Amino acid sequence: MDFISTKKIPTEVGIKIDNPNASKKVYIETYGCQMNVSDSEIVVSILAENNYQTTDDIKEADLIFVNTCSIRENAETRIRGRLSVFRQEKKRKPDLIIGVIGCMAERLKEKLLEEEKLVDLVIGPDAYRNLPELIAEAEAGQKAVNVLLSREETYADISPIRYASNGVSAFVSIMRGCDNMCTYCVVPFTRGRERSRNPKSILREVEQLVADGYKEVTLLGQNVDKYSWENEDGSKLNFANLLDLTAKVDTKLRVRFSTSYPQDMNDEVLQTMAKHNNICKHIHLPVQSGSTRILDLMKRGYSQKWYLGRIEAIKKIIPECSISTDVIVGFCTETEEDHQETLKVMQEVGYDFAYMFKYSERPNTFAQRRLSDDVPEDIKTRRLNEIIALQQELSEKAKAKDVGNIYEVLIEGTSKKSEEELVGRTSQNKTVVFPKGNHKKGDFVNVKILRNTSATLIGELVN
Ligand code: SAH
Ligand code: SF4
Ligand code: F3S
Repeated sequence: MDFISTKKIPTEVGIKIDNPNASKKVYIETYGCQMNVSDSEIVVSILAENNYQTTDDIKEADLIFVNTCSIRENAETRIRGRLSVFRQEKKRKPDLIIGVIGCMAERLKEKLLEEEKLVDLVIGPDAYRNLPELIAEAEAGQKAVNVLLSREETYADISPIRYASNGVSAFVSIMRGCDNMCTYCVVPFTRGRERSRNPKSILREVEQLVADGYKEVTLLGQNVDKYSWENEDGSKLNFANLLDLTAKVDTKLRVRFSTSYPQDMNDEVLQTMAKHNNICKHIHLPVQSGSTRILDLMKRGYSQKWYLGRIEAIKKIIPECSISTDVIVGFCTETEEDHQETLKVMQEVGYDFAYMFKYSERPNTFAQRRLSDDVPEDIKTRRLNEIIALQQELSEKAKAKDVGNIYEVLIEGTSKKSEEELVGRTSQNKTVVFPKGNHKKGDFVNVKILRNTSATLIGELVN
């Protein structure tokens, strides 16, 4: 999952008032992937029904929630750092309730209450419906924990409150959990079994977003290609069908999705993307490693050859499609040859963008129990630097190719550098900056690309 990079770069959300009549205030910080951003919107919706409004000022909060991520050790370290800041607040204001929600809550369970004495609530990702009761317990001076995972919960009937949204793009969760069990990954433990959300409720949410003026939706799941729903009459809906229905809600609405899984991403999905102008031409297809031996150890279920075959299919069916990826370096037993295979695959695909990580051993995963985290830290660092340097070149090259072309851009706001410039994205998910003219956030405009940096395209408006 890429997009606003919240998977890797934690977002601290800016806040709008959502329940102006509420007497209590919640301050919520969200770490981790887009799924967590989406979950925080569900949490705020449940809280808004229960006398809470959001605030972006810690000092006036009655309740602080940290929606957490466990994906790598450094994600947890950073969150622990934030908890020590909140401890200071609690010293100042003893009635303040501090809740840890999301993946770290699920992973550590009661242990978190022992380790972090200031924490009052520990709530896993499938227990948010119980928030009102749990908060009431905390208000009564009890510590409360609910980390039950569910096989059914999709929060299908809860309308998320998009409290930190730009009003242009929104996330729509289409499934929860993951059944893949990649050997390095903590997600199956923190998010539980894979389950799909009722398509009717998904489409209703998308329709509502259109009615509210949103211009883009991103369908979210850990492996969207496994989306599956059986209707009452026994007929089935797969991800390609759902994508098709979503694209038809409004032909002007941009539709994105994340994350695709190489083993499961089929041509039907690609053909559906090709068929609809409004399905964005970008696929995030995490490779993790270029070495088939390492992919086997990761239990990813595909080989280098298979992966490259999928890339070939994308390029054939959707020639204008951009491709991004995730890469892990230094997984158990990774040799120099394995690492070279990863570099080779990156070259061959020519990724537009990549998120790159050093392997971080996670407690209780198969890799932690059965394999040895034996690549020394300095080698991990060197390999990471090598893939970052290569990706920098590839990103630069991919952007340079866009110079001279005209793209439709959906405007997301004003550029950080200048009030006179707007920023938006192309269908390919590339960021474009251009002089504002008479346009505003939410408009679609045509922009001719004049030049590029490694991260951004710079252009001018055309008719
Ligand atoms: N469901 C998505 C990924 C979710 S996690 C998928 O399968 O593609 C996001 C990314 O974090 C993964 O793609 C992987 O590159 C990285 N990641 C997951 N576990 C990790 C670990 N233990 N150490 C380092 N990176 C990890
Ligand atoms: Fe983790 Fe693999 Fe599931 Fe992605 S598909 S969330 S990497 S187990
Ligand atoms: Fe997402 Fe992190 Fe959980 S990546 S699913 S928030 S462990």
